[in-house]
Amino acid sequence: MSKDTATAPATERAKPVLPDAQTVTKVTHYTDRLFSFRLTRPRSLRFRSGEFVMIGLLGDNGKPLLRAYSIASPSWDEELEFYSIKVQDGPLTSKLQNIQVGDEVIVRPKPVGTLVLDALLPGKRMYFIATGTGIAPFASLMRDPDLYERYDEVIMCHTCREVAELKYGADLVASLADDPLIGEFVGDKLRYYPTTTREESPKMGRVTEKMKDGSLFTDLGLVPLDPANDRVMICGSMGLNTDVKEICEAAGLTEGSNSQPAEFVLEKAFVG
Ligand code: A2P
Repeated sequence: MSKDTATAPATERAKPVLPDAQTVTKVTHYTDRLFSFRLTRPRSLRFRSGEFVMIGLLGDNGKPLLRAYSIASPSWDEELEFYSIKVQDGPLTSKLQNIQVGDEVIVRPKPVGTLVLDALLPGKRMYFIATGTGIAPFASLMRDPDLYERYDEVIMCHTCREVAELKYGADLVASLADDPLIGEFVGDKLRYYPTTTREESPKMGRVTEKMKDGSLFTDLGLVPLDPANDRVMICGSMGLNTDVKEICEAAGLTEGSNSQPAEFVLEKAFVG
């Protein structure tokens, strides 16, 4: 404890000072389980699209309560965007879901993660495979011109329980081809493959089943996964990650990392 803090008057001591605080600029609620928010960006924060940072609020004990969150905005954006689940008894998200414009959120400016373009060898086609809030890192990457410079085709696969849970990703994908900043990079390279598992929609079922029975590829007029051309990034529940990893390995793709780029990479989406 510094001398200043030790001698501060009681009124000042009572008001907690948030370390690394950023200001909420926008909050959008999608369902009673999902919301997104935007924050000012720390000047010192440089990151690669697809990485995550620790963010959070002060807990009841006055200590920062932090969780890993993928940054959903691209690296060039002057603000930060996040996409979060709401868990009613979750230590952080039970509080985070109530933030309003002007509130403060802690952002530790130390980005890390494996869902980065540099962790993959060059290829022709990129598959993003997500469930639920696992679409967040791809919301960042889909807005990065570098993705379209490196790949001829990008396929965004997103499986959710209900149609309303697809909206964040669906709106983003729909906006990109005409986006004034990156529309010319996106062109017709980005394809979207949404499925639901518990509510009627044009495509029902888990993306993993569609990969296993080949319908994902036939629906899109594509050949099955090919290690020579195809690259895969996976982000979702532990179950999704394990299942898609197995599918990728069965097709002859190997897992990459920052230090050893290969053909697929995965990361667990934050839950709770
Ligand atoms: P399901 O409804 O069959 O469990 P959650 O909301 O629980 O995070 O799940 C998000 C979506 O991910 C749901 O549609 C869920 O399907 C799906 N899902 C869960 N586990 C897997 C898995 N191992 N492979 C593919 N999809 C999965």
